[in-house]
Formats: sequence, C-alpha cells, structure tokens
Amino acid sequence: MQILDGQLVSKATKDELRIQVAQVVAEGKKTPHLAAVLVGNNGASETYVGAKVKACNEIGFKSTLVRLEADISENKLLEVIEGLNSDPDVDGILVQLPLPAHISDEKVINTILPAKDVDGFHPVNVGKMVQGLDSFVAATPHGIMLLLEHYKIDTKGKNAVVIGRSNIVGRPMSILLSQPGNPGNCTVTITHSHTRNLKELCQQADIIVAALGKPEFLTADMVKEGAVVIDVGITRVPDTSKKSGFALKGDVAYGEVAPRCSFITPVPGGVGPMTIAALMKNTFKACQAKW
Ligand SMILES: NC(=O)c1ccc[n+]([C@@H]2O[C@H](COP(=O)([O-])OP(=O)(O)OC[C@H]3O[C@@H](n4cnc5c(N)ncnc54)[C@H](OP(=O)(O)O)[C@@H]3O)[C@@H](O)[C@H]2O)c1
Repeated sequence: MQILDGQLVSKATKDELRIQVAQVVAEGKKTPHLAAVLVGNNGASETYVGAKVKACNEIGFKSTLVRLEADISENKLLEVIEGLNSDPDVDGILVQLPLPAHISDEKVINTILPAKDVDGFHPVNVGKMVQGLDSFVAATPHGIMLLLEHYKIDTKGKNAVVIGRSNIVGRPMSILLSQPGNPGNCTVTITHSHTRNLKELCQQADIIVAALGKPEFLTADMVKEGAVVIDVGITRVPDTSKKSGFALKGDVAYGEVAPRCSFITPVPGGVGPMTIAALMKNTFKACQAKW
C-alpha cells in the first residue's frame, strides 16, 4: 500500500508556481492576485480561507481577504462581487461556501466573471469542462487529478465509483475520470443517497472516490484488494483529547481500508492540500490570460 501524499505533491506544485511567479514578475508581468470572500465566521470556512491566503503568500501571489458580516444582504454581496469583477488587478475570485441560508449560492456563483472563476463553479466553466474544453476545473476534483497524475496511476479502462454527486466534487470528478487521457478513460459509476447496491458497486471498483461527508463510511468489506481509494471527506468530530476540541475525519475507515489498497489518501494530508494547490494553479492561469 502506498500513501498518496497530498501534502508533498501540493508543496511541489506550489514550489513550481513560486519559481514561475518570480520569473514572470522579474520580466515585469503582473503578479497573480486572488480575492477571497468570507461571509460570517464559520470555523471551518475560516480555516479553509486562511489556508488559501497563506498559500498565496508562500507562492508570491497577492491576496485580498474580504470579510463580510453573516447578515449581509444578498444584493450587497453581489455588489461586492461585481466590484471584484471590475477590478483589473484581481485575477481570481473565490467565495467560500457554504453561505448563510438567506443567500443563494447559485446567484453568487453566476455573478462571478467566468474568467475570474478560479473555483470553477460557474456554469460556463462547468459546461466547458464537460465538453473537454479549456476551463477552470473545480479545485478539489482538479487536485485529485493532479495527485493521480503525479503518482502515475494507470486509470485507463478501470472501473471507478464516485460516492457523492455534488456540483463541487462528485459530479465534476465523475466527468474528469471518464474523459479521454490519463488520468481518465475510466468507466465511471456516480452514486448518491438513493443508490441501492452501493456496497456491491464499490466491491467491483478499481478506484473509489468517497465524497459524501459521512465519517468512516467506506469500510474494508466494501473495498476490493488492490483498489485505489481517494478520501475527499472532511468532517469535524468532537475530540476532547485535541486542543481544538475536534478531530478531522475522512469518509474512509482508514485503519481497516488502507491495508487492502494499492494507493490511498490520508485525512488530513491527502485531498485537502491538493485542493489548495489546484486553486493556486487556477489563479496563475487566470492571471496568465492577461499577459
Ligand atoms: N478535501 C477538500 O478539499 C474538500 C473539498 C470539498 C468538500 N470536502 C468534503 O467532502 C465531503 C463532501 O462534500 P460535498 O460538498 O460534495 O457534500 P454534499 O454537497 O453534502 O454532497 C454529498 C453527496 O453525498 C451523497 N450521499 C450522502 N449520503 C450518501 C450515502 N449514504 N450513500 C451514497 N451517497 C451519499 C449525497 O447524495 P444526494 O445527492 O442524493 O443527497 C450527495 O450527492 C464533505 O465532507 C466535505 O467537507 C472536502
């Protein structure tokens, strides 16, 4: 069993970007600039946005963190996004999800200019991604593809089961794995809460991507010997032994599943850091389009 070390690959990706940024800035080109919008003070969202801003600083990108009160009106938030859309110095915009219940995720996502949509959630980018055209690919599935690529995992003709069909992880993941290329060329089954024979489907899978948000859901009896298991889940579970009061749990029962796998991602240190690396790559690309 080999661990797919997202921390390591993310660091390598960011190091590469840091060198590229230093080079282009020395040539007098624009420094990539990511604007992150955080609404409210959800603890997990604070952590994720903080990690993204930190990554920008490490690489040499500019970053702006726009903090807004949880009770901001939808219209005000849309105005903030319009302002970032029209700011020529801002290359990429991300709005940290989830948003408060009174704000429509859809309206917010659709307001971000597709050329600045480095999270890859805008329908224009999703549509291009589905057609295999150049686009911003959602950071988590993009990061998983980078990880599979780095470890030269042969995906051609393999049976892949994706657990979860969200717009930000499961659905784009299933499309990317089915597209021509390596990683890609998989025969993909996308599953959800209404799937009846999930255990049997997983037992036949060469690759399983667990993205449902249920801690330790995928158990050893669901996994075939030699499978590649990608654990996207991050759930905070109470843990009094930790200073923070919680532990992070993936969707995979790691201890029992890992010995059956050829490759597996840990939580933390697997998909999470790759999501950030992919976001940084998207931001660089958004800026590159202006040079
Ligand atoms: N590592 C990272 O960077 C990263 C990034 C994003 C998300 N995440 C984590 O990944 C997890 C999933 O995130 P998400 O945003 O995709 O979640 P989500 O929007 O809640 O979607 C969960 C999906 O799982 C499906 N599901 C729920 N229970 C199921 C079951 N028993 N069997 C099969 N499918 C089931 C749901 O089916 P229905 O559609 O039928 O409801 C839904 O499609 C969360 O833990 C999240 O924190 C991690």
